[in-house]
Amino acid sequence: MRIVVTGGAGFIGSHVVEVLIAAGHEVWVVDNLTAGRLDQVAPAARCLVGDVLHPDEWGGEVPGVDVVIHLAAQVSVSYGEAHPGEDGATNLLATIAMLQWAKKKGAQEFRFASSAAVYGVPAALPLDETSALAPLSFYGKHKEAAEWAVRHYGRTHGMVGVALRLANVYGPRQRNEGEGAVVAAFATRLAHRQPAIIHGDGGQSRDFVFVGDVANAFAARLGALPAEGLTANIGTGRSTTIEALWRTMARLVGDDPAAVRYGPPRAGDIRDSVLSPERAKTALGFVPKTAIEAGLRETLAYFRREFGRSAARPPSPE
Ligand SMILES: NC(=O)c1ccc[n+]([C@@H]2O[C@H](COP(=O)([O-])OP(=O)(O)OC[C@H]3O[C@@H](n4cnc5c(N)ncnc54)[C@H](O)[C@@H]3O)[C@@H](O)[C@H]2O)c1
Repeated sequence: MRIVVTGGAGFIGSHVVEVLIAAGHEVWVVDNLTAGRLDQVAPAARCLVGDVLHPDEWGGEVPGVDVVIHLAAQVSVSYGEAHPGEDGATNLLATIAMLQWAKKKGAQEFRFASSAAVYGVPAALPLDETSALAPLSFYGKHKEAAEWAVRHYGRTHGMVGVALRLANVYGPRQRNEGEGAVVAAFATRLAHRQPAIIHGDGGQSRDFVFVGDVANAFAARLGALPAEGLTANIGTGRSTTIEALWRTMARLVGDDPAAVRYGPPRAGDIRDSVLSPERAKTALGFVPKTAIEAGLRETLAYFRREFGRSAARPPSPE
């Protein structure tokens, strides 16, 4: 298949591209490189530097398309609060522009990266796709509206619309920015041998899902889903507290888990979040197969390489 991956030079996108290339697809990456890096895109992919808000500026170079996987986004919740119009342009209007472009190019399927942020404060855990949507941010509300656009446009224009609601994704190539990037933040601190900072008491919990598993979900059953499309969580169904996350990461590199400072809780942070992956398991054959310790090991090794930290020290006997 010929597949366009927007945001394909970014953290999750670059992994999606690798999985698609390995499966034998022809992959085109579109990225404006505000956060993405061309050097992390698999060499077999064709790359276009362009803005998803204006597909007509670059879209002529792409021949007919089978599937669009739309990951390009403004990904910072706090930036979205400070610049809601820009967040709306990148996260909602550009999704609509890409839907129209996908249809024009003959795409049969459109897959969109949504977020657990569409749920807001959970009434019960784990969250499943029937849980109430009550986003707490412009980012979450624009993702919710973009999801609706994907479903609506898909239904009315005969294109399979898929929205995958991602939990906290972590792994190699994640940038150390943004609210969800706590693993990258801890890994950076450990690579520089600085104490970590935990916002709040560390008892808050999240569903951490490894980027390789997320990439497999985006690449699963392409062109084989029912016409009505799919909205599904991509998480592990397991929660990990921030405190436990830090302790595991510190132990894996042999650092002192006590080397941590506690800061004030972040305004607007929810206490606990965990997503049920059952629907994605059935519909996509999704398996969150990477245990958190294995995923963290891989992530820490990446950050060590990135920051040129010398050889790993043996883990402490904790
Ligand atoms: N990382 C997570 O935990 C997480 C959780 C939920 C949802 N998501 C969603 O997954 C997707 C990928 O996120 P990520 O974590 O890989 O972030 P990322 O910042 O690494 O990737 C986004 C990519 O989009 C590109 N981009 C941004 N604006 C663009 C524009 N106007 N035109 C073209 N390209 C543009 C950036 O250069 C970057 O390469 C996003 O839609 C994000 O909202 C991520």
